[in-house]
Amino acid sequence: MKKKILVTGGAGYIGAHTAVELFQAGYEPVIIDNLSRSDRTLLNGIEKITGSKPNFHEGDCLNEDFLHGIFRKEGPISCVLHFAAYKSVGESVQEPLMYYENNLGSLIQLLKVMKANQVRDMIFSSSCTVYGQPDNIPVNEMAPFKRAESPYGATKQMSERILEDTYSTGFRVVSLRYFNPIGAHPSALIGELPVGIPNNLVPYITQTAAGKRGKLTVFGNDYDTPDGSNIRDFIHVVDVAAAHVQAMEYLDKLPPSNLYETFNLGTGVGVSVLELIDQFQKVTGVKLNYSIGPRRAGDVVKVYADPSKINALLKWETKYSSADALLHAWEWEKKVSNQ
Ligand code: WQD
Repeated sequence: MKKKILVTGGAGYIGAHTAVELFQAGYEPVIIDNLSRSDRTLLNGIEKITGSKPNFHEGDCLNEDFLHGIFRKEGPISCVLHFAAYKSVGESVQEPLMYYENNLGSLIQLLKVMKANQVRDMIFSSSCTVYGQPDNIPVNEMAPFKRAESPYGATKQMSERILEDTYSTGFRVVSLRYFNPIGAHPSALIGELPVGIPNNLVPYITQTAAGKRGKLTVFGNDYDTPDGSNIRDFIHVVDVAAAHVQAMEYLDKLPPSNLYETFNLGTGVGVSVLELIDQFQKVTGVKLNYSIGPRRAGDVVKVYADPSKINALLKWETKYSSADALLHAWEWEKKVSNQ
């Protein structure tokens, strides 16, 4: 009997890549998603890659009855991987209430239903945005939370606080603080599918390269960095996905006592926006049309991870570079553009 793993937001970018890794590690993902920011494309892609049709239920994590129904119907659930949340820094500045209601409400409902169904283990999608603009770079997990630069980052800070205050009532939780997930599955059968105009850099790059967007705007090159553009830690989405399986197995091996643990999920390598654009042109041979525009509200100037804790405790290492991720993102974009 395969262990069942609940994957909330599993029709989305990181959730779908993680569902593939779960299948390939011998688990049975149970995917729930309200399809507000995704459709069934990636679910079909999961089946093409793994040969297994994902066990999918359309519904909202804000709906307690829907969640109870899933736990009753699909139980026993061994672990919950909670991806379902809105995740755009830029959009959260424009729609703060939507972000607080969705991201915090979903987590609270899920924890209540997990407790009622005696499910204790959760891997939570947190974010490097919890640090705000860190004083020390690379940033480690002991760094204090400075004021989040965006409502999105604030929802992740508050979510972690909820988990810190709740785990001792009967949970074992690992928060993975993602840096900047980019790229697509090497098969080019799943990848990022932004709804409407992409908020994030790499899908905007690939859509510009594919001719879907006229030009990429670099949001500022007058920051205090070597080339003036922001610096980020761009991590391949398959490396991000693999970390979730390793975090789940880390929990599985521990004694049953309650636990809350956080890990930076990044490569430890800082790359600037302009460097990434240059890398994209080099690995794909595509000349990118871009210009420099004004800064974007909510942006952190420079952040990249100290990944030594996740390397040591989860025995996790990156397998892909940002160049690999850009190439895989481009292969995926060409596939999507030709459909
Ligand atoms: C990256 C850089 C922009 C678009 C993301 C996720 C968030 C979190 C952290 C996981 C910034 C610049 C962007 C464009 C640009 N990850 N940019 N032109 O804001 O770092 O946040 O990683 O939780 O969920 O959203 O990512 O890709 O939006 O921006 O110049 O058209 O690219 O200014 O410096 P960000 P991003």
